[in-house]
Amino acid sequence: MVEEPETAAPAAGGDARYGAPAGRAEVRRYSEVDVEAARRVPSGFGEFDRVLGGGIVPGSMVLVGGEPGIGKSTLLLQVAARVAESAGPVLYASGEESEQQVKERGQRLDIGDAELYLLAETCLERLLEAVERVRPALLVVDSIQTIYSLSLASAPGSVGQVREAATHLLFNAKRGNVPTILVGHVTKDGALAGPKVLEHVVDTVLYFEGERHHAHRVVRAVKNRFGAVSELGVFEMTGSGLLPVSNPSRLFLSDRAADAPGSVVLCSLEGTRPILVEVQALVSTGAYGTARRMSSGMDHNRLALLLAVLEKRAGLGLAGEDVFVNVAGGLEIDEPAADLGVVAAVASSLRARPVRPATAVFGEVGLGGEVRGTPQAGLRVREAAQLGFTHCVVPAANSGRDTADAGCETIGVETVEDALDALLAVS
Ligand code: TYD
Ligand code: MG
Repeated sequence: MVEEPETAAPAAGGDARYGAPAGRAEVRRYSEVDVEAARRVPSGFGEFDRVLGGGIVPGSMVLVGGEPGIGKSTLLLQVAARVAESAGPVLYASGEESEQQVKERGQRLDIGDAELYLLAETCLERLLEAVERVRPALLVVDSIQTIYSLSLASAPGSVGQVREAATHLLFNAKRGNVPTILVGHVTKDGALAGPKVLEHVVDTVLYFEGERHHAHRVVRAVKNRFGAVSELGVFEMTGSGLLPVSNPSRLFLSDRAADAPGSVVLCSLEGTRPILVEVQALVSTGAYGTARRMSSGMDHNRLALLLAVLEKRAGLGLAGEDVFVNVAGGLEIDEPAADLGVVAAVASSLRARPVRPATAVFGEVGLGGEVRGTPQAGLRVREAAQLGFTHCVVPAANSGRDTADAGCETIGVETVEDALDALLAVS
C-alpha cells in the first residue's frame, strides 16, 4: 500500500508540472515525417548497440537494471565517454557516487579528455536545470532510485518519487530530444525495484546479468520499442573495464571437457544471434527417498516435463535418480529448441557415455517424444560449423533444405529415441 497525498487540481490553462506544452499540437502527414532526424547515435560498443537495436535512439529513454556490483556504472561510464568523443557533450549524473569516485573509476577505464560532464546530484529539479545548461547529446542517471523531487514529501526511492522522477526525465528526453539512460536497482528476486510504471514509461528495458564469480556479463533487452527483444550483448569484465566479446560461443565453450558424459553442445538462438552453449547434466542415484531435480539456467518445469518424456518414450529409468542440469556460463536458456540438448545430456550422463565428438544439437521435444522443427535452423548449423563442429543432430523437418550449405553434416531425427541413437552411438 502506498500513500498518495492529494494534490491541488491544476489551474485552468494547463498543468505546467511536466513542462508547459509548446504552442499548438502539430499534426504531420505520414509521408512528410523526416526519419533522417532520428538517426541513431552509436554508443561506441557494438555489443551495446546490438541490444539497443542498432544504437541509441534520440529522445529515447532506456532503463538498465541489474544487481549491485554487476557493472552497470562501469558500462555506462564507458558508453558516456565514447559518446562524448563522437557525438558531443554527455552528462553523467551520479546520485550514488561523488565526482571523485566516478573519476577514479574512469581512470581505470582509461577515459581521456572527452566532453564528459559529471554531476553528483540527487535533486531532480537541479538535475533538470543542469541538463538545460549543458544540453547533452546523452544523459546518464545513475540511479533513478536516488533521485528525488522537491515537490513530493516522500523519501527518495519510494514509489511516488521514482515515478515522478522518471516521468519528468521522460518529458525532458522527448522535449529536448535528449536520449536518457537510467540505472535501476533490482530487488532480491531480480525484478526492477520501484513502481511497475517505470518499465511502462521507458522505451527500452535492459537487464545486466552474469555471475559475480565469472568474468563475463550479458546485457539482455526485455522490452524494446526500437528493436528486437531477447537480443544479447556479451561483455567480459577485465581490470580495465568491460570489453565486448565478439564471439560468445567460443567464450561459453571455453571450459568444456569434450568427452565427458553429460555434456552436450546446444545451438541456441538469442535474439537474432546463434550462440553455442554447453548443457551439462548429472544423474546420480538419490540417497534419500525422493529424487531431486534441480536446474540452473533453464526452467524447472520444462526439465520435469522432459524427464517424463525420457522415461515414458525413450524408456530411460530415471525414477529414484537425482537429476541436475546446468547451462554452463550462467546463461539463461528459455527457447524450446534447447529441449533436445537437455534430453541428450541427461541420457548421456545416465548411460555414462559421452556424446559423439564434434557434434552439436538442437530441437524441440513434444510430449509424444517427437522432435519438432525449429526456426532459424540454418543460422544455428552455420554457427556450429564455424566453431569446428562437423555434425549437427537436428529435427528431421530442418534437415536438408534449411541446412544444406551450412558446411556441417546434419543428421535429421524424428523422435527422441532416434536422437539418442545418433548422439550416443558406441563408436
Ligand atoms: P559497478 O559498475 O560499480 O557495478 P554497479 O554499478 O552495477 O553496482 O561494478 C563494480 C564491479 O566491477 C566491482 O566489483 C569491480 C569491478 N570492476 C572491474 O573488475 N574492473 C574495472 O575496471 C572496474 C571499473 C570495475
Ligand atoms: Mg553503480
